[in-house]
Amino acid sequence: MRQAFAVYPGTFDPVTNGHLDILVRARRLFGSIVVGIGRNPGKKPVFSIDQRVIMLQEALDQVDIDKVDIVPFDGLTADFAREIGARAIVRALRSMTDFESEFALDIANARLAPELETVLLIARPEYTHLSSTLVREAAEQGRRIIPGSVPPCVEHHLREHYGF
Ligand code: COA
Repeated sequence: MRQAFAVYPGTFDPVTNGHLDILVRARRLFGSIVVGIGRNPGKKPVFSIDQRVIMLQEALDQVDIDKVDIVPFDGLTADFAREIGARAIVRALRSMTDFESEFALDIANARLAPELETVLLIARPEYTHLSSTLVREAAEQGRRIIPGSVPPCVEHHLREHYGF
């Protein structure tokens, strides 16, 4: 029988060590993981979809992990997860603010695709205040990399993108 797999969706603009921590932990729970990169035009990502895929692939190459695929998607996460036959959607909880939005998202996704479960993993303390926006702001406005925030390959792309 095919092993259950989960979708870990996000914008990953760029992927951070916080995302990678969730991914590694989710992989321990599921036979494989599809990282769904939402094109998410509404969020106006700074990095193109191709750049986001490359950064994620390079980051995965530096982590001891297998059976992870990266797949860009348009539209709803629930539709994407259902189309590829996932059993669950994995999301991270960094704070009570995340809880509010994830709670609403779970209810909506459960109505859209009742066969899917959402699995919420609590972010490790070192990543609870991290976000891709903070990483980009430090790089753009401070020409700095927040220590411990991103893997070396993403640091390289940030330096190249913001020219420092
Ligand atoms: N560690 C550090 N940071 C984390 C993190 C972790 N473990 N988990 C999330 N974050 C950060 C991200 O970097 C991101 O930061 P940013 O807002 O500064 O970019 C922020 O938390 C939000 O995270 P993310 O998980 O990427 O969510 P998102 O809001 O970008 O959502 C989609 C991405 C694709 C899942 C979401 O937009 C979506 O579902 N889109 C499809 C439409 C849809 O289905 N909507 C629901 C309708 S019912």
